[in-house]
Amino acid sequence: MSDAPHSTKAEFDFVVVSNRLPVDRVTDSDGVASWTRSPGGLVTALEPVMREADGAWVGWGGQPDLTIDPFENDGIHIVPVDLSAADIEEFYEGFSNDTLWPLYHDVIAPPAYHREWWESYVRVNQRFADAAAAASAQGAVVWVQDYQLQLVPRMLRESRPDLTIGFFNHIPFPPYGIFSQLPWRLQIIEGLLGADVIGFQRVADAGNFLRAVRRLTSFPTRNPAIEVSSAGQPTRRVVARAFPISIDAKSFEELAREPRIQERAREIREGLGNPRTVMLGVDRLDYTKGIGHRLKAFGELLAEGRVNVEDVTLVQVASPSRERVAAYMQLRDEIELTVGRINGDFATMSHTAISYHHHGYPRDEMVALYLAADVLLVTALRDGMNLVAKEYVASRFDDDGVLVLSEFTGASDELKKALLINPHDIDGVKDAILQAIAMPAKERATRMRSLRKRVLENDVSRWSSNFLHTLEQARASRYDRISPVQLPDELEWTVDRRWSD
Ligand code: F6P
Repeated sequence: MSDAPHSTKAEFDFVVVSNRLPVDRVTDSDGVASWTRSPGGLVTALEPVMREADGAWVGWGGQPDLTIDPFENDGIHIVPVDLSAADIEEFYEGFSNDTLWPLYHDVIAPPAYHREWWESYVRVNQRFADAAAAASAQGAVVWVQDYQLQLVPRMLRESRPDLTIGFFNHIPFPPYGIFSQLPWRLQIIEGLLGADVIGFQRVADAGNFLRAVRRLTSFPTRNPAIEVSSAGQPTRRVVARAFPISIDAKSFEELAREPRIQERAREIREGLGNPRTVMLGVDRLDYTKGIGHRLKAFGELLAEGRVNVEDVTLVQVASPSRERVAAYMQLRDEIELTVGRINGDFATMSHTAISYHHHGYPRDEMVALYLAADVLLVTALRDGMNLVAKEYVASRFDDDGVLVLSEFTGASDELKKALLINPHDIDGVKDAILQAIAMPAKERATRMRSLRKRVLENDVSRWSSNFLHTLEQARASRYDRISPVQLPDELEWTVDRRWSD
């Protein structure tokens, strides 16, 4: 990766703003610093988009007090934003990941509400907005990403009315019955309404947002448009709708077709003792991912003798995440205790029950793992999209492999030919695992072909061009009064009415 310094002038016509940059600064035990790829689906999706565009990416470099000049990395102009240790504690670990994250994921863990975290969130959002404004040319398009930066659209609108502003929420947007807990709910809605287009993963998320707007403001709405007025400003039309995110599907297929990757997949299976079935879980170590539910189901199947370790192995990749947040520390202890217990009870000298890996792997190794896995288990309790499911499908050019997919992921709206499960129903998960293991080759191929068609057609470039095209249209009609705007709905959706009031 090259670190060529770059100019800081306001020269970019396209600017992406996200909490994390696509690369994280890491320092090894000898104090040598380097950049590595950042974790998470946001980077997976946006990196190929940014490589195509001649834009700037504004974000944090992953370490405290990192004051570095803008630079170019693998063809992307990087504009770092500095966060202090206190900002990381209060804005990132606190308000973003201990308030908003659990609140937006169905309160699976209890959200904490602290006024000083909120104040830090406002301050840091202002810093991101200022950095984005400084990098943006007159009339530029600025695309703000995710729940950490929900105040940035309004802040940008106030300082730079010339900009066209998009916002995309990568995680779910909660039903009003849950969202209304947030003491700063109105400020969040007003922050988001600074954008011209607000994108969500699912139709249900966009519906939840529109309901929150109706409950908290008097702005007229007509799905998908909202008419926003504020003192001294002309009335603006804002569009809020679903744009389900995806991956660069072709690049996964291309890698999977490489003989060296296929050879590596064979090696992986051999290393596991060539069991008949390899099952795989790939997640950030996060309580939303339902890793414990998956282990419980597998452990019970082993205990009941319905599967045995000679025949079936589970590989669990759990990449480290938010390790200083208490709920994540506790989760790690629970998961590792459970893995240890299951292995202690069921492993033999030649076969382990669960091959557990607490680190991330490079893309090549992940694709080899996808090829090696007969079954991918996605048991998230709530997930904005789940791009791992799409990566698995994109990699299976051989039309083989079975996807077991939680209905609480955004991906389940599209990937109907997966074995859909309710992860809370442990007996149902066990049945799906057994069905996946026993599925005849013909049925596996039929299902995988249909899944692949979906993922290869709706890839990330289609996602970004849909969003940016809608943003362009919205800019052109920003001051039109509400009329029934006919925006193409690419996919068929069912509206999730749970929790809504
Ligand atoms: O997709 C959700 C998300 O929080 C992204 O915003 C983020 O980049 C990724 O997951 C990883 O999380 P974090 O940046 O907290 O490590």
